[in-house]
Amino acid sequence: MRHLLSWSNWSDDEIRELVDFAVYVKGNRTFYNGSMLGRSIAMLFQKTSTRTRVSFEAALTEMGGHAIYIDWMSSNFELTDISFESRYLSRNVSLIMARMKKHEDLVQIAEGSEVPVINGCCNLFHPCQSLADMLTIRMDAGVLAGRSLCYVGVHNNVVNSLIEITAALGVNLVLVTPLANDGAVIDSVIERGKKAGTLSWERDISHAVRNVDYVYTDTWVDMEFFNDPTFADKKKERIELMLPYQLNHHLLANSRAKVMHDMPIHAGYEISKELVNDPRSIIFQQAENRLDAQKAAIIKLLHRNS
Ligand code: CP
Repeated sequence: MRHLLSWSNWSDDEIRELVDFAVYVKGNRTFYNGSMLGRSIAMLFQKTSTRTRVSFEAALTEMGGHAIYIDWMSSNFELTDISFESRYLSRNVSLIMARMKKHEDLVQIAEGSEVPVINGCCNLFHPCQSLADMLTIRMDAGVLAGRSLCYVGVHNNVVNSLIEITAALGVNLVLVTPLANDGAVIDSVIERGKKAGTLSWERDISHAVRNVDYVYTDTWVDMEFFNDPTFADKKKERIELMLPYQLNHHLLANSRAKVMHDMPIHAGYEISKELVNDPRSIIFQQAENRLDAQKAAIIKLLHRNS
């Protein structure tokens, strides 16, 4: 069974093919209307979401199918073996999308499932986001190979998926990551970027953003910890450490880079509000592209596993 838990077991060719297909899907939005008629997917959420929920649900509606929203806390997943519940689920739906706190729990869902599973963002990876990111650059620049992207922020799940997908697509990724989430730096992921020659690190943020095509940032604190009182001290420490790494007009004064952010945005922290609304920001195109990218992933996975 083919899943999309991360890009780790997708070859470069398979990733390139999927991005090309996402471009096609975006350019032919009505072509797949009705293609999911009579079919359902399950969307299981252990964490909060706006974009992931809305874009998957809208994608299914547009394709004539139905997306069933399942809130982890009001389901029976927590009462039993996760793989038993996902095995049951997969007998009712064509595909499962799950947003889990821990990657190992997502793996259990995939192990039990008899249908494809898509990772809707776990602690280690966010492949759907990175697919939409690459679709955004491709639509903006016309090509991917040779483009350059500088990620400024905490090394997190988004970074891991960016390292893997840029390695496959020949996009140069520069990381300015003074901090990493616990367990987020994964040797095999780094190795893929290094082997492709697409991954590098830079300490000097002004130098890093000067000659790249795109700059990208993300929240400094993951969603499940953002309002957690037990994380409050750590959050304060992070903000103090990371504030010099804020994306703003001053930092980008000598850069032609366009601005990306996967949202939700914490204006005044990782990015200034003015920059979000600046003409060089392609943040809202990027968020919109989640819809097309995920349609492409759903269609490809269902076709591959049929
Ligand atoms: N970028 C992203 O995954 O957004 P949500 O957390 O709102 O789904």
